[in-house]
Amino acid sequence: MGAVLEMRLAGKTIVVTGAASGIGAATLALCREEGATAVGLDLGSTDRVCDVSDEASVRRAFEGMERVDGLVNSAGIAVRQPAGAQDTAGWEAVFDVNVKGTFLCTREVLERMGPGASIVHLSSAVALTGVRNRAAYSASKGAIVALTRNMALDYAPRGIRVNCVCPGFARTALTRGIFEDPQRKARIEAMHPLGRMGEPEDIAKAVLFLLSGDASWITGIALAVDGGFSAGHRDDV
Ligand SMILES: NC(=O)c1ccc[n+]([C@@H]2O[C@H](COP(=O)([O-])OP(=O)(O)OC[C@H]3O[C@@H](n4cnc5c(N)ncnc54)[C@H](O)[C@@H]3O)[C@@H](O)[C@H]2O)c1
Repeated sequence: MGAVLEMRLAGKTIVVTGAASGIGAATLALCREEGATAVGLDLGSTDRVCDVSDEASVRRAFEGMERVDGLVNSAGIAVRQPAGAQDTAGWEAVFDVNVKGTFLCTREVLERMGPGASIVHLSSAVALTGVRNRAAYSASKGAIVALTRNMALDYAPRGIRVNCVCPGFARTALTRGIFEDPQRKARIEAMHPLGRMGEPEDIAKAVLFLLSGDASWITGIALAVDGGFSAGHRDDV
């Protein structure tokens, strides 16, 4: 008789922001496959409507939830500009969703968490290595790496783990401009030593690992899930 595989999130309640699309949607689906009661938050088309950058909206979205075992902060937006061409409103919008949104959702969930709970933020490989034309986005994702380490230290005494995942370029609505343009897609693929863009599921599997008990001694890390993008240059020199 074969071994019975246990579902890795059985009995757990997991909240996923940005769950209507891309990495968030793949994570929500995987959490459910692994036995979790998973609740998706997004601006629309998901279980609960929530603007993560708005304090009152975040509070409403979590109303009625008692114990929460996991939170995945996947809601995010990007702008593609060098600092000199970046308008202030665009800068603020990126920080409001990516950084303030991550902070607000995490603050809301902490009081509902006990020992063994896990929080996973979505940072980016562009927080680990420089990429041109992404001043606001890179800075916001760098802030998330720093926030991850801070929160890991602050909440370790309560047995709550906090980590972030740093994806390379993955095929989602966020990167449509890349994978729908054959030349840009080829350029981007060449920047990933494993020779392809990521799929949302590649990232979701790493998030699942960090949520699960398999990662019970891991906190405060920035895990690159990027086909080698942040490892260095692919070409011989
Ligand atoms: N796709 C990539 O290549 C890549 C690479 C590195 C990091 N990331 C990060 O991963 C996360 C998910 O990105 P994705 O590629 O799945 O993008 P996506 O655009 O497919 O999904 C992002 C989701 O966030 C939601 N969202 C945006 N603003 C929101 C708000 N104010 N409140 C609630 N929800 C909001 C959107 O509606 C959307 O459903 C983001 O934080 C992104 O920065 C993505």
